[in-house]
Amino acid sequence: MAILVTGGAGYIGSHTVVELLNANQQVIIVDNLSNANVIALSRIEKITAKSCIFYQGSVLNKALLHKIFTDHAIEAVIHLAGLKAEADSVCKPLQYYETNVTGTIILCQVMAEHQVKKLVFSSSATVYGVPDGLPIKETDSTGATTPYGQSKLMVEQLLADLHTADNQWDITILRYFNPVGAHPSGLIGEDPCDIPNNLMAYICQVAVGKLKELQVFGNDYLTPDGTGVRDYIHVVDLAQGHLKALAKLSSNSAIATYNLGTGRGYSVIEIINTFEQITGKAIPYRFSARRDGDLAAYFADVSHAKTALDWHAELSLETMIESSWHWQSKNPNGYRN
Ligand code: WQD
Repeated sequence: MAILVTGGAGYIGSHTVVELLNANQQVIIVDNLSNANVIALSRIEKITAKSCIFYQGSVLNKALLHKIFTDHAIEAVIHLAGLKAEADSVCKPLQYYETNVTGTIILCQVMAEHQVKKLVFSSSATVYGVPDGLPIKETDSTGATTPYGQSKLMVEQLLADLHTADNQWDITILRYFNPVGAHPSGLIGEDPCDIPNNLMAYICQVAVGKLKELQVFGNDYLTPDGTGVRDYIHVVDLAQGHLKALAKLSSNSAIATYNLGTGRGYSVIEIINTFEQITGKAIPYRFSARRDGDLAAYFADVSHAKTALDWHAELSLETMIESSWHWQSKNPNGYRN
């Protein structure tokens, strides 16, 4: 039996596939490569000395999904395929709702037709909107502020409704905090197509000389040093979380939601200082205005994942930074060398 990973060539997907292959799972990837590179697949093979089956295509392509489910014995699906840039989603709402919401509907329809009802879904901490309090618990209220966040919330709701309608469905929703870092081999990592929106990817490109300086968005937040605080989590820990979620799926028919984070927040200034210490690279930066939609502080209560999934993040901020830099310095242009 195989695990289908949608979006398996992307940043989180490629790391998740490595962990699955290392755990001797058979893996099938479907990815349209809209924000991923096919080279990641040969790197996965190099890391694991194992191969997986790859289909290039979209989750909107129902005929392709039918073919995949007909040709392979699929046990469960890890659904990571989706568009993920908050600001971009404000300009392209239709594209975000189509890919993220319609894509999930089509995937679930095909799964149901083939009697595959085990699903791990990639959601985001963005669904909490302005948090009720810190740390953020899974039971806190939700309220997304962008089409991207709304699309994740809509999918969470449709999965809940699907489970209500047919409790054979076994669904785990993972709400990621801020994934950073790369595989220790330096062979796979985050490869933004454009100028990065996210802090760690931006810092890495400053360090490698591709970008001149970092703008720190806001230094007047109510945080210890005035800059934004986030819960950064190593992508390898995150990938492991998916394996724990899969293992749990086989034992109960339920729907469950988990935060995946470390439970600890770091400020932008702490990230810059630690990055400089570890890499010996200076990160020139200047303070600028707050970025629209940003919040002061965001970090997870991770106790639910610890108790119910037997999972917790193990890798330190130092390891996150070291591995991000290892990947970036070995691959200054990402997969496009
Ligand atoms: C982190 C901190 C910024 C860039 C985003 C998405 C969210 C989720 C994770 C997918 C903040 C500051 C950043 C820069 C800066 N992704 N910053 N200069 O905003 O927590 O969340 O990624 O689901 O949906 O919104 O992450 O890495 O963009 O920012 O000062 O050039 O770094 O203001 O405090 P964020 P981030």
